Parts: sequence; structure tokens; C-alpha cells
Amino acid sequence: MKPNHNENDTMTSAILVTGGAGYAGSHTVAALLERPDTDVDIVVVDNLSNAYRPEGQKKPEPLRIIEEMTEKTIHFYDIDIRDAAGLCRIFENHNIDCVIHFAALKAVAESVEKPLEYYQANITGTCTLFEVMRKYGVHKLVYSSSCTVYGEPERLPLDEGHPTGAGLTSPYGRSKYFCEEIMKDLCRSDPKWMVISLRYFNPVGAHPSGKIGEDPNGIPNNLMPYISQVAVGRLKELVVFGADYPTVDGTGVRDYIHVVDLAEGHVKAVKLFKQKGFSGFHAVNLGTGTGYSVLQLLSAFEKASGRKIPHRVAGRRAGDIAANVADPALAQRLLGWRAARGLADMCADTWRWQRTHPNGYRGE
Ligand SMILES: NC(=O)c1ccc[n+]([C@@H]2O[C@H](COP(=O)([O-])OP(=O)(O)OC[C@H]3O[C@@H](n4cnc5c(N)ncnc54)[C@H](O)[C@@H]3O)[C@@H](O)[C@H]2O)c1
Repeated sequence: MKPNHNENDTMTSAILVTGGAGYAGSHTVAALLERPDTDVDIVVVDNLSNAYRPEGQKKPEPLRIIEEMTEKTIHFYDIDIRDAAGLCRIFENHNIDCVIHFAALKAVAESVEKPLEYYQANITGTCTLFEVMRKYGVHKLVYSSSCTVYGEPERLPLDEGHPTGAGLTSPYGRSKYFCEEIMKDLCRSDPKWMVISLRYFNPVGAHPSGKIGEDPNGIPNNLMPYISQVAVGRLKELVVFGADYPTVDGTGVRDYIHVVDLAEGHVKAVKLFKQKGFSGFHAVNLGTGTGYSVLQLLSAFEKASGRKIPHRVAGRRAGDIAANVADPALAQRLLGWRAARGLADMCADTWRWQRTHPNGYRGE
């Protein structure tokens, strides 16, 4: 693939999005391309381990749909981030200015069974990416971190000053924590690095068009896709793990954030790199600051879908915490970002996607 050239015959600058065919990545690619002022190329690298590309098609389905929606081209490479030579080819072909790094394995329970696979993909892969970035003089990075790094909350809401790394219960959570520590070390070693580690709370929802959304492989690990698959008849009933937590109704409370708000947080983060004097490592929560219980989410989804969701209560699940809620003040101060979409939007948009794509991107 030939690099793009602008009128002055210089290579158009590009954002490299790893894992850009996945859930958060594809919504961020859409958010970047939907902006009229976006004048950069978008280059996606994804090994398709958790994304769908129909046979014979060049690009993964979500990227094909985004190209159709935005009438813009996305450069796509089916490459694993542990493949240094493959990554180098991308940096040779494009004028990469910054990287948004989503690519990772993310199933918490699976990570307990397969720690090496998780450390390989999430830590070795991340270090390989950083080595290649350094080789090509690219030091701007937005990283997909998680509220998991806080472990069991000492206080709520969780601000970025809350301790991280203690009491983490899964290799997945530890991989996110270790990557943050690695990025801090990188920033200490060379002031050229600019790193924004976005600590996501619980991304849910879908693009308001209903054309792209979350398409988990197998039985969903997260609550919202589970509820929506029960609503559409793919799963029989929702099992609520624990109704004896010290919360509003005994069920676990989480800070859900609309994936389009999350995507816009990344757009704001990329803009911050242009700010004079910006450098170093910055961890920033992406959450709304409001928590909802499982039963509150269930009831909001029933309202949005007009369907009754069968459910039953079971015992607590090992490793689950009672509640997590973000303090989103730093995101507002540093990025000028705050969540604009509420629970009703999250449910309505999830339902629009699920109703029109009962089997996700795979069709019937
Ligand atoms: N969705 C959540 O609830 C959540 C919460 C907190 C943090 N995060 C983080 O956000 C990021 C994106 O999550 P998501 O929900 O979009 O997940 P996802 O699985 O939908 O997307 C990840 C993408 O990365 C790709 N990928 C995985 N390993 C790769 C590798 N070695 N090389 C190249 N591509 C690879 C997958 O094929 C997939 O398309 C992850 O880093 C995840 O840990 C997600």
C-alpha cells in the first residue's frame, strides 16, 4: 500500500490504532473519522483474534461499515502486535504521529486459566509496540487501561490518586497495571514520551446508527451484552451474581460509560498532544461519576427494549467487588471531556444494535 501524499508532497500524518477492529477501537475510529476537522490517515492493526472479517473481504466488518458511513478510507493490517517486523513495515509505509493502543486480550476469567497467553499478548505485545515506536521516533501514546488497576476500592468515587496494583485478582488486571508501570518508566527514561493512560470504567452501548456495536465471541463476559442477548432470545436468562452487597438494592454497582463518550475521550486525548509543554505519564479516568446496580441496569434495558428480561439471583462471584464509581473530574480538567450520554441512551443504543444484529456482525 502506497502512503498518502498531500498537496505539498509530504506524507499525510497518521494515527495508528491497534485493536481498531474491536469494540472500543472501532467506535474510536468512527469518532475520529466522523469529525470534519480530521485530516489524518487512520491505520488499524488487528490480528482478528476478537474481530470478524467475512471470508474473501479485505477489511474487518466494522471497518468496512465505518468506511461506508464516513466515506473515508481506513488502512488495515492483519498483523499481531508481537510481530515487530510487521509493525516496522507499517511505520515505513505511513507517517505515524501517534498511537492509540487498544489491542489486548480482555476476558478476566480466561486470564486466570491462561496467564501466559495474557501476559504474552498484553505485556510482550505492548513492549514490542513501544520498541517499534521508539525506533521510529514516535512517542505519543494513548493507552487503554482499566479501573481494574485500582483493585478493591479504599474509597469511592475512585480518583486517579487512589493506589493501584494492590489486591488485583486476575492476570488481566495485573497486565493492565504492569503496562502502566512500564509506561511510567518509559516516561522517566525519556521526556519525549507523552502517554495518556485512559482508565475505562464499564463501556457499554453502541454507535447511535445501530451499525456497529459490541460483538463478543461466545457467552458474553459483561453484563450489558448478556442482557441484550437475553432480550433478543439468544440466551435464556440473566444470572445476577450476588444480591447481598452493601449497595442500593444488594446487587453490584458499576459506573457504565457509553462507548461513544469513551471514543470521544480518545479524540480529546489525541488533541492534548498538541498542547505546548505536554509530556510524561498521565492516568485519566473515563467514567460518568454515577453508578447503577445490576437491577437498575436491567430495569432501564427493559424500558428501552419493551421486553421483559428473565433473571434469577445466584451467589456472589469470586473476585467481584460491591461497587465502583469514577471521579471524572481530571478528565474534565485535563481533556475538557465529560460523559454526555446517560443510562437511557446506553440501553437504547445497545438495543438498536442488538435488535438489528441478533448474531452480531455474522448475520443470520
Ligand atoms: N470493554 C471493556 O469492558 C474494557 C474495560 C476496560 C479496558 N478495556 C481495554 O480496552 C481495550 C479494547 O477493549 P475492547 O472491549 O474493544 O476489546 P476487543 O476484544 O473488542 O478489542 C480488542 C481488539 O484487539 C485485537 N487484538 C487482540 N490481541 C491482539 C494482538 N496481539 N495483536 C493485534 N490485535 C490484537 C482483537 O482482535 C480485537 O479486535 C483492551 O485493551 C481492553 O483491555 C476494555
